[in-house]
Amino acid sequence: MTDVGEGYEGKTVLVTGGAGAIGGNLVRRLNDLGTTKIIIIDNLSSSYEWNVPRGPKIQFVHGDILDDEKLKFVFKDRPEIVFHLAAHFANQHSIDNPETDLMVNGMGILKVLEFAHRSRVSRFVYASSGCGVYGLDAVAPYCEDDTSTSLHTPYQVTKLLGELYTNYYHNLFDLPIVNTRFFNSYGPGEVPGKYRNVIPNFFYWAMTGKTLPITGDGTETRDWTYVGDIVNGLLAAGVRKEAIGEAINLGSGTETRVIDLANKVNRLTGNDLGILYIDRRDWDVKTRIISSIDKAKRLLDYRPETTFNEGLKYVHEWFVENWKDIERSAEF
Ligand SMILES: NC(=O)c1ccc[n+]([C@@H]2O[C@H](COP(=O)([O-])OP(=O)(O)OC[C@H]3O[C@@H](n4cnc5c(N)ncnc54)[C@H](O)[C@@H]3O)[C@@H](O)[C@H]2O)c1
Repeated sequence: MTDVGEGYEGKTVLVTGGAGAIGGNLVRRLNDLGTTKIIIIDNLSSSYEWNVPRGPKIQFVHGDILDDEKLKFVFKDRPEIVFHLAAHFANQHSIDNPETDLMVNGMGILKVLEFAHRSRVSRFVYASSGCGVYGLDAVAPYCEDDTSTSLHTPYQVTKLLGELYTNYYHNLFDLPIVNTRFFNSYGPGEVPGKYRNVIPNFFYWAMTGKTLPITGDGTETRDWTYVGDIVNGLLAAGVRKEAIGEAINLGSGTETRVIDLANKVNRLTGNDLGILYIDRRDWDVKTRIISSIDKAKRLLDYRPETTFNEGLKYVHEWFVENWKDIERSAEF
């Protein structure tokens, strides 16, 4: 991956959802570049004070993207680049709370886009989702043109809606947007919980001596992508001209069976309680998920660097180092 660091020299960058699992990793990387200032707006609805990135260049604003006054405040320093990651996350959460999902992921992005447009930002990067835009009829590996409107959760509907809004601002107002579509992000920084992803939850259960529950028969595959690779893709999307107006997958481009993940987590943590098979969730209908990353390679010079085994090792190390905070914060 070519160095995109100089594109951030002297820039002010806004990260909505910058206290979250991916946003926190993005902010820490931005902090290491020549960025002048990084502003986070996050209401901590699915993240934690102890996990918020800190530093002299980082301004953390505890606030909601639905609050116009807070948005006015974070845009007053005229950020040049906006990464929009704040979201009501994810599928089951949206089925349980469909109205909040629509408010945050629909009205929320509309508000942030309007402020970004009025501030004439040089780039607006949206965190879209592979699961949101590639419905059941899409054929793996998913290419960017295989989008579908046959979806299974409100979250998928509203993540797609976000792309429709970014495209609208691009088409009508020339707002330089990029729709980055993430595939199953995992890595240090994601705290386990009822609505969180399988990897942090498997580590939590394994480290608290529990059998790992697999919803399905374990042969289902997912395209788990290390968060550091997603951050590399985001940084490139934030500065490369070729990306403007494009939808681009950020995945690992490989697939792994859920059963193999469970066995790896049990081995890494020394958990000998094995695996338990339970019913697949109604909305969890895809047996295979794998991205095509050809477009990301071409437009962003994107190359996933972290192997699945390395990534799981980093997650385990992060769990061990932060165990007290994680145990206190995990809600099931
Ligand atoms: N994690 C994945 O595998 C994945 C896959 C595809 C897309 N995405 C997208 O990437 C983005 C980041 O995901 P993540 O895994 O870091 O999730 P996350 O829940 O850890 O991060 C989202 C952050 O947004 C904040 N937030 C929620 N509602 C808010 C509001 N109304 N105002 C301000 N802040 C608010 C939360 O507190 C949280 O810190 C999201 O937009 C998500 O939809 C994630």
